[in-house]
Amino acid sequence: METKPAPQQRRWLVPLLVSLLLCSLLISVALFSSSPSFSPRTLLFLSLSQIRSSLHGENTLFVESKLILPPIPSTPVNAVPRLAYLISGSAGDGGSLRRTLKALYHPANRYVVHLDLEASPVERLELVVAVRDDRIYSRVGNVRVIERANLVTYRGPTMVANTLHAAAILLKEGGDWDWFINLSASDYPLVTQDDLLYTLSSLPRQLNFIEHTSDIGWKEYQRAKPVIIDPGLYSLHKSDVFWITEKRSVATAYKLFTGSAWMMLSHQFIEFCIWGWDNLPRTVLMYYANFLSSPEGYFHTVICNAPQFSNTTVNHDLHYISWDNPPKQHPHFLTLNDFSQMVHSNAPFARKFPKEDPVLDQIDRELLSRNASDGFVHGGWFDRLNNVNDSSYSVSSVKDLRPGPAKTHQKGIKYSMSKIFVALLLRFCYVFANTQQKSS
Ligand SMILES: *[C@@H]1O[C@H](CO)[C@@H](O)[C@H](O)[C@H]1NC(C)=O
Ligand SMILES: *[C@@H]1O[C@H](CO)[C@@H](O)[C@H](O)[C@H]1NC(C)=O
Ligand SMILES: *[C@@H]1O[C@H](CO)[C@@H](O)[C@H](O)[C@H]1NC(C)=O
Ligand SMILES: *[C@@H]1O[C@H](CO)[C@@H](O)[C@H](O)[C@H]1NC(C)=O
Repeated sequence: METKPAPQQRRWLVPLLVSLLLCSLLISVALFSSSPSFSPRTLLFLSLSQIRSSLHGENTLFVESKLILPPIPSTPVNAVPRLAYLISGSAGDGGSLRRTLKALYHPANRYVVHLDLEASPVERLELVVAVRDDRIYSRVGNVRVIERANLVTYRGPTMVANTLHAAAILLKEGGDWDWFINLSASDYPLVTQDDLLYTLSSLPRQLNFIEHTSDIGWKEYQRAKPVIIDPGLYSLHKSDVFWITEKRSVATAYKLFTGSAWMMLSHQFIEFCIWGWDNLPRTVLMYYANFLSSPEGYFHTVICNAPQFSNTTVNHDLHYISWDNPPKQHPHFLTLNDFSQMVHSNAPFARKFPKEDPVLDQIDRELLSRNASDGFVHGGWFDRLNNVNDSSYSVSSVKDLRPGPAKTHQKGIKYSMSKIFVALLLRFCYVFANTQQKSS
């Protein structure tokens, strides 16, 4: 009975079919007429304009891509960008987390700090109190402590879940930032925020700094084939991931990428991952739920498989990390002996530092000029914040920043921010040249 259509219902069928046909005709006409017209290769400027045109012009065929189109940036390129930081730690990291937060602090940025469930309630409370009682944090109100802590398994997908959680909070609370940066309590900045913001102010906001490669090599057998379970997904107590005896074949629906777990991601890309209007970030997330060391692959795989973002990557993680050769699971701890290497690397961040190591004091003194009594790095914001009475401090132009002049440290190594800038731009050119070659 139900399967047999009534005659009145059938009468609707014909117009429906006709309109469907018309629609598909229109779509195919649009498809054939919108073939890419040019593909500049050599010049950085052309590459830059290419990103913009690809984000604003092409791909308007599908509703999803329409949603992705970012608003045309009304801000001039030189306006001051804002950063959104996640700083996370575990048991015993409270002190170093607070120190890293102070060294990174700038009122224009946003911060989410998280001590995971393994840290004792006392330690987590100390963090809450420290942030609440700080004169500057409470006045500006841009530091948020995640009080309902997550259990985070090192190497497991709960690490990615935690990063996505923090990114979602940062989107919800204001969301007026340009880049998201994921750090841990054992990271430390090598440049002041004024320097960093000044440098970034001249870069296109679409860029994603994510070190990645499709050459997964040994990881194919050791990472992509095993199936692991992260106990952090269902247990309240921390334990390592465990393996299942079955192996699976390597994913074919998308290409797997791997790279550094440290990155700086654009606002648009974070929205793409969190809102999930395209199914790719969600599918890949579920795939990575059983993947060993998913933080070293999730964002890399999503960004490189999403055509609207794959050309926005800069293959650099903005960190100085000292690995063994061949790399082991953990990098070296950085000490005073690594100082000049670190400075020469031109990276804005470094890891991994032992707690309260003297090298941190040297960085404070020579690179950041951190104030010994209040712990902040006094940038251009500090005096202004003291001279105005409103809580909503804002930096409107790069003139409000106080990028340091080239600093000379004891051994006579010149250290200047412009060097980093040049290094980044060079990388950027190089990456573009590479992707263009690959695609042709
Ligand atoms: C984010 O930060 C943590 C440090 O707490 C790190 O271990 C993790 O791998 C990072 N990356 C991602 C993608 O979660
Ligand atoms: C540290 O900051 C305070 C104000 O908070 C200031 O009076 C003092 O001079 C600063 N110290 C240094 C060494 O800059
Ligand atoms: C800020 O407000 C206090 C009183 O609340 C006042 O004494 C002080 O002069 C004000 N400072 C500025 C820079 O307006
Ligand atoms: C982006 O890169 C792909 C290859 O990875 C290429 O086919 C495409 O034309 C590029 N698009 C733009 C807008 O540069």
